[in-house]
Amino acid sequence: MAASSITLCLAAVAILAVAVEGFNITDLLSAHPEYSEFNDLLTKTKLADDINSREPVTVCVIPNGGLSAYTGKYPLSVVKNILALHVLLDYFDAPKLHKIAEGSVLTTTLYQTTGNAGGNLGFVNITDLKGGKVGFGSGVPGSSLDSTFAKSVVQVPYNLSVIEISKAIAPSAVLTAPAPSASSVNITALLEKAGCKTFASLIVSTGVLKIYQSALDKGLTIFAPNDEAFKATGAPDLSKLTSAEVDSVLRYHALASYSPIGTLKQSTGRIETLATNGAGKYDLSVKTAGDSVSLVTGVGTSRVASTVLDSTPLCIFTVDNMLLPVELFGKAPAPAPGPAPETSPSPAPVAEAPSPKSAAAPSPFHSPPAPPSKSPAASPSDGPTADSQNSTSNNAGGALKSPTVMKTVVAAASVTVLASVLLS
Ligand SMILES: *[C@@H]1O[C@H](CO)[C@@H](O)[C@H](O)[C@H]1NC(C)=O
Ligand SMILES: *[C@@H]1O[C@H](CO)[C@@H](O)[C@H](O)[C@H]1NC(C)=O
Ligand SMILES: *[C@@H]1O[C@H](CO)[C@@H](O)[C@H](O)[C@H]1NC(C)=O
Ligand SMILES: *[C@@H]1O[C@H](CO)[C@@H](O)[C@H](O)[C@H]1NC(C)=O
Ligand SMILES: *[C@@H]1O[C@H](CO)[C@@H](O)[C@H](O)[C@H]1NC(C)=O
Repeated sequence: MAASSITLCLAAVAILAVAVEGFNITDLLSAHPEYSEFNDLLTKTKLADDINSREPVTVCVIPNGGLSAYTGKYPLSVVKNILALHVLLDYFDAPKLHKIAEGSVLTTTLYQTTGNAGGNLGFVNITDLKGGKVGFGSGVPGSSLDSTFAKSVVQVPYNLSVIEISKAIAPSAVLTAPAPSASSVNITALLEKAGCKTFASLIVSTGVLKIYQSALDKGLTIFAPNDEAFKATGAPDLSKLTSAEVDSVLRYHALASYSPIGTLKQSTGRIETLATNGAGKYDLSVKTAGDSVSLVTGVGTSRVASTVLDSTPLCIFTVDNMLLPVELFGKAPAPAPGPAPETSPSPAPVAEAPSPKSAAAPSPFHSPPAPPSKSPAASPSDGPTADSQNSTSNNAGGALKSPTVMKTVVAAASVTVLASVLLS
């Protein structure tokens, strides 16, 4: 019985994993070389990650050559906006396109989610035209519908559809939108406006801003704690650190890559930061629960609260808590301990742990911790045993764990219980 219940449990977990993984647009399109240019651009702009993290979604692809009027002429940030207009946040296959209610619909695109689309610019108008044709155009009133549905490419009902349309949708307002050239962006001004004055003044006074700026060309992502984060109980007193340590803390708040929110959602494993000075040093990982994305440092967790700027090659986010690297805050029961996010609106994860108090007992601040609450949940129903298997993405350290992980673990545990009941 035990063996079969375990097998069943593993099977259930495997199914769960596949469902969560979803599809990979890059892989799907690689089977269609006639769209290789479009596919390459999805990768370059990181839109592929965003697409993979959504469903339902329809990608309107253009055959090779169809984007050349834009790729040669406009910066990548503009090309990205054009492509984002070709990603519809709904499922459209041929049958659905041919029976659009009232003959015309405005559908939301990925461009709308950037917050930069005024009026109807972030929408696409799909209209049934005479003679069985389906026209596509910008949602801006009066736009022409001169791009038409050509054929279906891939369908995974009702989550993912890839269709070919005859011509790029590129309204002039997208082409002429001022593309902030990364070198001209005033990072501190943006940070101040976003409620991160303390962080802004720190990166200026320490000179870390210059380090950020020199990393910019190759891609840069900044996680700026808001002003409250510096005052929160548990926030470290930076004046007690050496200037080299403050420098490391500030570098730790940035990645040397352009990583928009969709890319963060798709990331697995540890991610290097600008403070990383050796394998496994000063890195962090990402936990996603639905639309909520959190950064896990090993000392604590911080929610990514808002996007201040997403413009290739620069991303700026605000975060609810300071990011504390274990290298500086993990070991000693720090003077001001409790990097725990007190005010963040995430549901108390501990409450979801099925059982014992043992989960809460050990201090979360001893850094290379043996996550105590994991074993009871992950082990089969016969109580807290020595299931000490470390999952790499999960050794977040400390008692803070994302609700998703807990839910998954709890779900897996209940499947096991169910299986044992059924099989006994
Ligand atoms: C999707 O597929 C591409 C190409 O096969 C691969 O490089 C990429 O890592 C995959 N993405 C994910 C999120 O698995
Ligand atoms: C779509 O565009 C056509 C032509 O510009 C227009 O007549 C129609 O009202 C638009 N549809 C919607 C839903 O806005
Ligand atoms: C489509 O998405 C739903 C909801 O996430 C999921 O349950 C289902 O398995 C997906 N279908 C396919 C064919 O991937
Ligand atoms: C950036 O903005 C700050 C104020 O937020 C200002 O003090 C600084 O001079 C600006 N830098 C540049 C290069 O314009
Ligand atoms: C498991 O975690 C412990 C403590 O963090 C560590 O010492 C050990 O090397 C890890 N084992 C594996 C297989 O990762």
